Amino acid sequence: MAIDTLKGIIDIDSDAAPTVEQDRLYRLWEEGNWSAKNLDFTTDREQWTATLNAEQHKAFLWNYALFLDGEESVTVTLTPFVQATKRYEDRIFLATQIADEARHHVFFDRFLREVAGIGTSYADTLATMRKGLTWGYNQVFTELDRVADRLRMNPDSPPLLAQGVAIYHLTVEGMLAHTGQHFMRDYCNREALMAGFATGINLIARDESRHIAFGVQLLRELVTSDPRCKAAAIAELNKILPWAAGVFTPPNLDWSYITAFGYTPEEVFTFGLRSIQTKLRRAGIPPEEVLALVKLGAPNVPPAEQAKHVKTLIEGGIIGTDADPRMSEATLDAIFTSIRYIADWTRPRHPTLRATIQWIFDDAEPRYLVLGEGDGAQVRTGKAARPRLTLRCTSADWGRMAGGRLPQRQALLSRRLRISGDWRLALRLPQILPV
Ligand SMILES: [Fe+2]
Ligand SMILES: [Fe+2]
Repeated sequence: MAIDTLKGIIDIDSDAAPTVEQDRLYRLWEEGNWSAKNLDFTTDREQWTATLNAEQHKAFLWNYALFLDGEESVTVTLTPFVQATKRYEDRIFLATQIADEARHHVFFDRFLREVAGIGTSYADTLATMRKGLTWGYNQVFTELDRVADRLRMNPDSPPLLAQGVAIYHLTVEGMLAHTGQHFMRDYCNREALMAGFATGINLIARDESRHIAFGVQLLRELVTSDPRCKAAAIAELNKILPWAAGVFTPPNLDWSYITAFGYTPEEVFTFGLRSIQTKLRRAGIPPEEVLALVKLGAPNVPPAEQAKHVKTLIEGGIIGTDADPRMSEATLDAIFTSIRYIADWTRPRHPTLRATIQWIFDDAEPRYLVLGEGDGAQVRTGKAARPRLTLRCTSADWGRMAGGRLPQRQALLSRRLRISGDWRLALRLPQILPV
């Protein structure tokens, strides 16, 4: 019997979507129950062998690794949230979500074992697929484990719950899984490929639309009732968003893992950035209050431009990777564009400051920042006439500092960063240009 995979899907992608009560979310769960065990993978098996080429196998398996491990992880890490929510409606919904995540794990496991021929048990398949996880994925999910553990120990802390929902429902589900599912669904539906997988991923996306709607609404309640919750959620987002950029960063920056499906990396990043910003606005956290998004130009720069910026930073080894920076003029341009966005953002903290800050790199063109002139901060290449402050370092070390991998204090103490000029201005740098 054909399943209507769209019936009961909730609009989570528009700014104006209405609130859906928990009772309705629960009802939709009951009405939409489906069986991962009963999906028919017969044509999937035939097409996996006869239709898909080696590059497509490689790209699919890379995506499946992220999904399989992700679904297993979110099944376990959701349990402390049940204890931390106090209303029965929330607890009942979260219990349905745990069941959903377990079902998603079963779905990916079945597909991998029965179609791709990987593994002979849950443990075995997970262990094999884990070799394909990305650096960004490991950072985000290790942090999810940490936050869930802290919530388990402190179930009565609303700020910790807000932090948990920000990483779990908004970022892992609303930004990462939602993006992966969107492109997988689109590809399989468009190419009429692997009918069993296409049905399952559509049903998973429907389940996830309930989870994300629930998380957005819960976070909204927390941030509007307690300013500590808003601060905790924002701090968590600033920590994980640079890592999240690396979840879809393929091994050795080989973008064919993404382009094999007919999409550009920019399209994937645009979807993810638009998705998280929509959900944040709905949760009562304007993206312009999140420094990690301000660095990309939020809220004025459109997601497609933010996506190009992210890709340049990833390729330069600044965010989303543990590889060493690969500095080029394009990488430095992207870093200094972020510096301009940040300086404009912190302007209320230094409204009357007029100053020029110069960077001299051992191995690249100098840059300078002009504050307090014209409508906003400006960055230029070359040497300024009378800088009030001069910073000297290698371009790679500035890349490490910009990406948060080399603390400026440590760079100063080890003389990898040398500062000359107005020291009072130097001491204000962390407020003017926070990392
Ligand atoms: Fe899931
Ligand atoms: Fe989910």
